[in-house]
Amino acid sequence: MTKDPQKLYQYAKKRIPGGTQLLSKRPEMMLPDIWPNYYKKAKGAEVWGLDGKKYIDMTHNGVGSCILGFADPDVNKAVKKAVDLGTMSTLNCPEEVELSDILCEIHPWADMVRYARTGGEAMAVAIRIARAKTGKDKIAFCGYHGWHDWYIAANLNSDDALEGHSIGGLSPIGVPKALKGTAFPFHYNKIDELKKILEENKGGMAAIAMEPIRNIKPEPGFIEAVKELARQHNAILIFDEITAAWRVNEGGYHLNFNVAPDIAVFGKAMSNGYPMAAVIGRKEVMEAAQNTFISSTYWSEKIGPTAAIATIEKCRKLNVPKHLAAAGEKVIDGWEKAGEATGVDIKVSGKDVVPSLAHFNFNYKNAQAVKTLFTQLMLDRGYLSNNGYYATYAHTDKIIEKYLETVEEAFAGLKKHIEANEVEEKLRGEVAHMGFQRLN
Ligand SMILES: Cc1ncc(COP(=O)(O)O)c(C=O)c1O
Repeated sequence: MTKDPQKLYQYAKKRIPGGTQLLSKRPEMMLPDIWPNYYKKAKGAEVWGLDGKKYIDMTHNGVGSCILGFADPDVNKAVKKAVDLGTMSTLNCPEEVELSDILCEIHPWADMVRYARTGGEAMAVAIRIARAKTGKDKIAFCGYHGWHDWYIAANLNSDDALEGHSIGGLSPIGVPKALKGTAFPFHYNKIDELKKILEENKGGMAAIAMEPIRNIKPEPGFIEAVKELARQHNAILIFDEITAAWRVNEGGYHLNFNVAPDIAVFGKAMSNGYPMAAVIGRKEVMEAAQNTFISSTYWSEKIGPTAAIATIEKCRKLNVPKHLAAAGEKVIDGWEKAGEATGVDIKVSGKDVVPSLAHFNFNYKNAQAVKTLFTQLMLDRGYLSNNGYYATYAHTDKIIEKYLETVEEAFAGLKKHIEANEVEEKLRGEVAHMGFQRLN
């Protein structure tokens, strides 16, 4: 097999429809034709491409899955032990019971736990439980919740109902048309939108599913009002904590504002790079999982819960959320400083929301091209970097300081190209894609 990452990706697109398994990992989303595409090794904050070249990862670090850094030695040690003991057998692994205790101890409002291995499927489990419990079909939601039919069905209602909740351009092709009118998006902090949806679908709402936080701060009373509406309409309140959790505290973000949902869903960072997801909830609600068929072979394997137990233990021992917040704040301040020093016009966000999910936008008409050129300039300097940064414990002060020096240097170059009106010309490949689109 070729070691040339561009040739391999071109070939992959013939074998794998869409090229990759995850939209965010498409090279077209970062730096088409130039991105290193594949890795052979990842450790801490470092990633080695197929040609052995080393990069520092200052992007989303495994799409938010590795808050301890890649290949964390403690999590790996626990997993290797599990591998040697046998990751699968005819009997169940006790780690799934141990993990359920840990999750319910961290979230005292929850009594019971089910597992899956990815975020999207865990959300599908939560929705099934809510529908089974209430006997109703409809779902109001806010945020991104994965690829499953129940969610993408929202785009059967209108051309792009999901725009602003997730990636734009998600087609409902392949989603049964019979699901039209079952999923309704509302925007964060727009309680009137949710009220209207609930009024228009009176008696039919099984659940209100929402990311408790992402990139906007909740207005005072917003979350409480959502909970009250869920109560009034006898709908199950589901917090999708797949991206938010473990970053600001040792558990779900909702512990911060002290509003208990009926169900909370975890994935990604909970197991630091090993597939694992959990649906936790109140007994009266979770018991509905006994009346409906929710079952999968690999949900019973040993690695996922083992990795989650080791990750949670390390997060608690080292106060990882504190480190992540400090790293995020440092990066945000550094971006601002680099913008001021070089005159590159950016707007940062995340600092007063979840600093470890930091982000900035370029304020230019050709912002997407400017962003692509920034990624190119950073890659040339040994960084995987764009306009988002998900902090990890492996990002030491030294790594961050060096990165910010490089950002300032890249911004200075960028400014020259912006002023000379030559941003597109300087790109060695295409402008990065926005949202979902067919590749070939
Ligand atoms: C809030 C949220 N929910 C659900 C998902 C889907 O998780 P997965 O990609 O593991 O299926 C994601 C992934 O980005 C997410 O951020």
